[in-house]
Amino acid sequence: MRPLNLCINIFSGFIYEHQITMLLLRRTVQAGKHGRSFSASQTLLSERKGLVLGVFEKEGEEGGLHLTEAAAGFDQTLSGKLSELLKISGPTLKQGKSRIFYGIHKDFPCVAVVGLGKTTAGVCGSENWDTSKENVRQAMSAGCRLLQDLEVKHVEVDGCGDAQSAAEGAGLGLFQYDQLKSKKNNKVTTQLHGSADSAGWQKGVTYAEGQNLARMLMEAPANHITPTAFANTIEEKLAPHAERVTIHKRSQAWIEQQQMGAFLSVSRGSEEPPVFLELHYNGSPDSKQAPLLLVGKGITFDSGGISLKPSPSMDAMRADMGGAATVCASIVTAAALKLPVNIIGLAPLCENMPSGKATKPGDVVVAKNGKTIQVDNTDAEGRMVLADALCYGHSFNPRAIVNVATLTGAIDVALGSAATGVFTNSDWLWEQLQKASVVTGDRVWRMPLFQHYTRQVTDCQLADLNNVGKYSRSGGACTAAAFLREFVTAPHWAHLDIAGVMSNKDEVPYLRKGMSGRPTRTLVEFAAGLVHKG
Ligand code: BES
Ligand code: ZN
Ligand code: ZN
Repeated sequence: MRPLNLCINIFSGFIYEHQITMLLLRRTVQAGKHGRSFSASQTLLSERKGLVLGVFEKEGEEGGLHLTEAAAGFDQTLSGKLSELLKISGPTLKQGKSRIFYGIHKDFPCVAVVGLGKTTAGVCGSENWDTSKENVRQAMSAGCRLLQDLEVKHVEVDGCGDAQSAAEGAGLGLFQYDQLKSKKNNKVTTQLHGSADSAGWQKGVTYAEGQNLARMLMEAPANHITPTAFANTIEEKLAPHAERVTIHKRSQAWIEQQQMGAFLSVSRGSEEPPVFLELHYNGSPDSKQAPLLLVGKGITFDSGGISLKPSPSMDAMRADMGGAATVCASIVTAAALKLPVNIIGLAPLCENMPSGKATKPGDVVVAKNGKTIQVDNTDAEGRMVLADALCYGHSFNPRAIVNVATLTGAIDVALGSAATGVFTNSDWLWEQLQKASVVTGDRVWRMPLFQHYTRQVTDCQLADLNNVGKYSRSGGACTAAAFLREFVTAPHWAHLDIAGVMSNKDEVPYLRKGMSGRPTRTLVEFAAGLVHKG
């Protein structure tokens, strides 16, 4: 065996850790005893290709490695050099840990190898997700990001036996919102390596692109993504699918005509006109099939209104349209996948701002269904815009209604960023959402819809409902859900409170710091799951 040499050895061709600059030297690399030789010198920085490979931990064998099919194939072309290097370069690669090898292959100056954990991981009952899929996403994301930092322009990615998850990890890991920076990030293109499952790969690319669209909309500043700009962006994204999609960008006049007094009470403090975005995706061969209705909270900036929020972190409220972003992005994704289902998307879009015209605490307004609402806190605006959108949505006789909203800080207190809180009147709908989230790893957790909470919003001095619970902070996510329920008569309705999963610090390892675009993939997987359900 070659002696362990952690110094740079340009003659052996095995160069460890971050010594990339050395590779730029003009030289010829002799590939050891097998006599292959190649020139690494000519590879321009702008053309360098990278490769990300996965490696499992061998079951029941401490320190044992099990190469994926692609890694084993690559190892074979190097006559076992990769496995030899993995052995001598350090401890066994544990799940998520990585190592880079430079100059070992003429086509790939940089090869990242990442640990995938145990082959037997699979679905974990206590974690409520498929650990194998999560491991693949995490590993491929980590490998791609390492190579992105090395300014590699094109990366081939190991399918790891689950090309969809590999593509999701790569696509999500590489995304960064740098549109407004002068110095852009290194853009990396990706391609499946050593697997025939190009359909799975393509599906994963589309899922990741969907979530990245939601991330882009959420991260973008509120002076860029106004209600009008939001609607125009979605219209553009849906343009290639015009055959199956109809879009209505409803104006303020239309909203008034619809008597959406709750929605209008939120937008009235702002100079930006509100937009009620309505998307129809007709994917089912049966045009009469009852649609799935998705409703997203679309507050493009939530200052709190007259009940003004404190300044620290108020900037994060540019993402208060996360519900609308994930709903619309999931419809764009469903259209790209040509899912054979009908989906209607509704997004009440507006800003929540203080001004001389703004709604004041104690004001009473009338919702579309005639219910009166005392607005005790103008910062509880999400439920107001959703109330009218939910009433309107019933007119389509949907098979199920799912609304998605960055609704309450209280759900963040309850669940943090681990899972979206789901409040639903339907065990069937809960099962569908939960099943989808196990696959995507973007989890959901069921929350209560007790009458206990309903009483706290219906006990109101001036009107039928108060927009905040009478014990204010206690059970805030649950009283908000109870409020929404007052605008629902459908038997299959779910409210997804996504305030806790709105942004990512480092909790989800395959998402960078920033707005998360969660739970777009779960919504898409859920819609796809309805295909054979009549
Ligand atoms: N958009 C916020 C909720 C939010 C908080 C989303 C943190 C993301 C991160 C919502 O409009 C709001 O302000 N809710 C209030 C409700 C309260 C006044 C009853 C809240 O959660 O404090
Ligand atoms: Zn608010
Ligand atoms: Zn809000």
